Amino acid sequence: MPKLGLTADQLLSTTRSVRKRLDISRPVERAVIEECLNLALQAPNGGNRNLWRWIVVDDPAKVAAIGAQYKAMFDQPLSARSEPIPDNVERFDLVHDSVRALVEKIDHMPALLIPLMPGRAEGKTPMQQAVMWGSIVQAVWSFFLALRERGLGSAWTTVSLGREREIAEILGIPFESYTQVGLFPIAYTQGTDFKPAWREPLAEVLDYNGFTAR
Ligand SMILES: Cc1cc2nc3c(=O)[nH]c(=O)nc-3n(C[C@H](O)[C@H](O)[C@H](O)COP(=O)(O)O)c2cc1C
Repeated sequence: MPKLGLTADQLLSTTRSVRKRLDISRPVERAVIEECLNLALQAPNGGNRNLWRWIVVDDPAKVAAIGAQYKAMFDQPLSARSEPIPDNVERFDLVHDSVRALVEKIDHMPALLIPLMPGRAEGKTPMQQAVMWGSIVQAVWSFFLALRERGLGSAWTTVSLGREREIAEILGIPFESYTQVGLFPIAYTQGTDFKPAWREPLAEVLDYNGFTAR
């Protein structure tokens, strides 16, 4: 697979949530997805138990059905699915436009990725939950980095978890045995030039040797 040849630092600083620039007209080969997943599987996971499962959805009918669940969830009032809109986030209006753009085309993606972690998070202690999430989130992010290096992109999304049971039914996932991590579109990007994003400056969030009240 052709690669962009980004340095590690470029890859880490320019792997964005891509939504508007996901090219839904270009098919994505299973081989490139598997190449990225093989890299992702090198991420650490608790006890190296490899209890994760990875579902790639590239059947257009199933992509449409899952996309419909995403849309339905998204169209609920904001209060039903997340926290209030922040007033300190730079360019939040643009993020909102971009989020909307993904909602519009999520049901036409070339492919979707739904990673699964074993068991249910409900009722688990923070430590048990940390093992669950920590044993798969890093692999998913590696997958994002591998996509970026190959001219593809994704966006981390969690809205679908409001419809986790419905999505499990569409895919035949045993709901009591696995928790979905999120829903990740997979597509080539329109252009490959992405820039570092705004973040709260390090000085605002970093402390040494103790917690500073701010
Ligand atoms: C835990 C988490 C949940 C998110 N959920 C969604 C989502 O449901 N839909 C969406 O379009 N973007 C979602 N995002 C993407 C964020 O909006 C995005 O990461 C943020 O705006 C920063 O942009 P960047 O990733 O391009 O730097 C989520 C990101 C994270 C890490």
